[in-house]
Parts: sequence; structure tokens; C-alpha cells
Amino acid sequence: MVAVTPDPSYIIEQLKLLIQHPEALSHEDTRLLIEQLELLVLKPKATNHDVSRRSEIQRLARLASVALETPQESMQRIMFTHLPLVTTRISNDFNIFATLTKGHDADPVALSDLVKASGLDKNLVSAIMDYHCYQGAAVEPRQDFYAPTRLTYSLLDPMVVKATTSWHDIVGPAYGALHRLLKSGPDESGQKTAFQVGQHITGSFYDWLESRPEQHSAFYGYMAAFHAVTAKWIDVVRFDEEIAHSAHEKEAVFIDVGGGDGSQCIEVQKAHKLGGRIILQDRAAVIEQATKAREAGVETMVYDFFTEQPVKGARAYFFQFVLLNWDDDDCVRILASQAPAMGPESTLIIVDYVQGHRWENKDGPLEPDLYTPATALAARACHDAKGRSRADYRDLLERAGLELKDVRVFTNFGQAVIMGKKQ
Ligand SMILES: C[S@@+](CC[C@H](N)C(=O)[O-])C[C@H]1O[C@@H](n2cnc3c(N)ncnc32)[C@H](O)[C@@H]1O
Repeated sequence: MVAVTPDPSYIIEQLKLLIQHPEALSHEDTRLLIEQLELLVLKPKATNHDVSRRSEIQRLARLASVALETPQESMQRIMFTHLPLVTTRISNDFNIFATLTKGHDADPVALSDLVKASGLDKNLVSAIMDYHCYQGAAVEPRQDFYAPTRLTYSLLDPMVVKATTSWHDIVGPAYGALHRLLKSGPDESGQKTAFQVGQHITGSFYDWLESRPEQHSAFYGYMAAFHAVTAKWIDVVRFDEEIAHSAHEKEAVFIDVGGGDGSQCIEVQKAHKLGGRIILQDRAAVIEQATKAREAGVETMVYDFFTEQPVKGARAYFFQFVLLNWDDDDCVRILASQAPAMGPESTLIIVDYVQGHRWENKDGPLEPDLYTPATALAARACHDAKGRSRADYRDLLERAGLELKDVRVFTNFGQAVIMGKKQ
């Protein structure tokens, strides 16, 4: 009997076999696996009820595809790496995706309409659409007529637009210049980071960002979207019990230093029931835009974290995705600027990626993930900074006169809460 829904367990088993012992797969096994994969493409939601099996199939399918590659196909996969980001950025910004969604399989959109809507030339739009068809972001039911797919709608999601704009405009040119900088070293022009080389500037990352409204908004939109869809640090900290126990109304219970739009202050407001001040600190241009946090009752304050922390004795000084962007000496300066303000009840909380976390998992090593290396390389390219291990955080805290108390990894891509106290 021919199967009508995909069987996730069978697919996982056979993909594992394909990766480890391709010679053990008979002709009939291969035929059944192809049949199952075709069903999966038609009915992807069949695995949605079980997130771990869904990601296991995705991981194995990716590895199986690599395992089957000839050297020429590997070359092709790698040399065209830029294209998903570049074609997505162009298609969002030039109205191609939005126009594409006006059609459907039975009534597709003509290439000439996409050309008109985008204002770009026909050959370029045609090449972009051919690429989208290849990557599954469009279909071409008849020649030069296109319809959207599930991926088209995903790529139009405002969260995805912010994220792809950020990585295309901000991180992409820095990734692209990293090799050049490593090869030739900084020259006399004063460009020290790959970001500066890529943008042809000598000023700071944050000055550059704040002078570009589109990229500034994309960057904070991306950060907010990221926080909204990933696991939350607050879920592994019993805030009132561990941090804010017996706090009174006027006491500062949470200071989000370099807190961006203040979304983490709002998370703490939800979890914390004991009263006390919740404060967002950042650069002036960021604080000016933190309207949502202010409206929610969060205090906002312009503060440069290289200067002494003005709010004394707060229960928590919180740094999320901040240290990742600074080299060790700067991190020590930032942390040492908080130490004089900290009292015996104060905890310094860092939320960041921990390299090597997958080897410290109690049930055996986790599979390699994408986020930890991607963000460590972005930190290097954009800020000449780096990803850090547990031991590196201990070292930074000790150099700033603080002591590492706890590290709690809360995602399978190494995001962790790192807690320190005054020595
Ligand atoms: C990668 S963002 C992280 C934002 C926020 N913590 C989050 O998790 O969404 C780094 C933040 O550090 C802030 N920042 C950079 N330099 C700073 C400084 N000298 N003093 C205070 N904040 C600074 C930036 O403006 C930015 O909001």
C-alpha cells in the first residue's frame, strides 16, 4: 500500500543510515526514502507536533545532502552563499515579494508585472526569480509567470525583513572584509575592524548605526524579534526569590545596561511582583527611542557603561548581548565600572553565548549549532571582539573584581545566564 503521510521515524532512521553507511541502503530502501521525503515536502506539517523530531529531520536532511555532494556540488553550494540574503533583501526592498503574493498557482503574476513593480530591469528580475524558484521562494507554473510559496510569506514577515536587512546591510559587508583584514592587518587608515574596512569608515559601529535610521530600526527590530521567538533567560532565574527577595518600592531591582529597546525590562516587570525600580540604560540615541519601555513604566537613563555606574546597590546589573561586542580589556572596563556600585545583595547577570557548551551537556555532547559560531564570527568581524567560553567569563569577572557564581545554559545554541557577585 502506498503511504499517504510521511513517517518521521522511518525518515530519521534511513537518513542516519544514508549518512553513516550509504552502501547499506538497498535500491528499494532508497526508493522508499525518496517517496517518504516527497510526502514530507507535500505535508511538512506532519512533523510539527514534535519539535525535536522536526529539527532532527532538518539536521539529517542537511547532512545527507552534504554527504551526497560531489566536490563540484560542494563548490557550488559554498560559492553561491551570498545569494539567499542578497535576493531576499532586494525582493523585499523592491516590492518583488509583495507583488508576487498578489498571484497564486492558478493565476500567477507575470514577470512584466514584477519588473514594473520593482522598477528594475527585466533580466535582473528574471534572474532573481529563477533563483527564488531554485530556493523554493517562488514557483513558475508557466514560463515567466510566478506564484508565491510558504517561503515567500515567511520572507515577507516583518521580523524576517528586519533580520535579513540587519545581516545584509550591517554584518554582511563585515563578514566579507574579515579575510582581507586578517591577511593584510590594519593599515594606516585607522580601520581596525572588518566592519570598518567593509564600510570604508574609521568611526565606531554604534555611531555608524545611529546615523542610519533604516539600519538602526532594522537592528533593534531584529533584536526584539530574536528575543520574542527564542527561549527566555528569565525562565531559568527565579527573579523574586533569587534576586529581588524582600526588595522595597524605592530599591533598584533591575538595571538593563546597554538594554536597547528595554524589552528585557518589560520581561522582568512581568515576572517580578515585589515592587522596586526597573531601569533601562543605553546611549542617548537609543534611550530617545525607547518609548514602549517608558510607556510601560520603565525608568530610562542615558549612561555610558565605560563610566562608573551611577545607580548604587541595585539587585541586578544586567548585560545581554553586550560583552560579545567588546574585546577582553573593554569588557573588564565595563564590568569594573559596575563593581563600585554593587553591594552584597547585587548580582551581575550576563546573558550571552557560551562557546564549548555542547561538550558540557550532562547527557553527552549536543550537535554543533549555527548560532554560536555565526555570532562569534559576527562579533569578530563587526567589533574585533570574540565569542567566549565559561572559563573566559570567569576570567573577565575576576579581572573586574567579581566572582563567577553560576552559568545556566538555556538554549541548545549556547545562550546562557552567567551570574557574578562582588568578591
Ligand atoms: C547588541 S545590542 C544589545 C541590546 C540589548 N541588550 C538586547 O539584548 O537586545 C548592544 C547595546 O549596547 C549599547 N551600547 C553600546 N555602547 C554603549 C555604551 N558605551 N554605553 C551604554 N550602552 C552602549 C548599544 O547602543 C546597544 O543597544
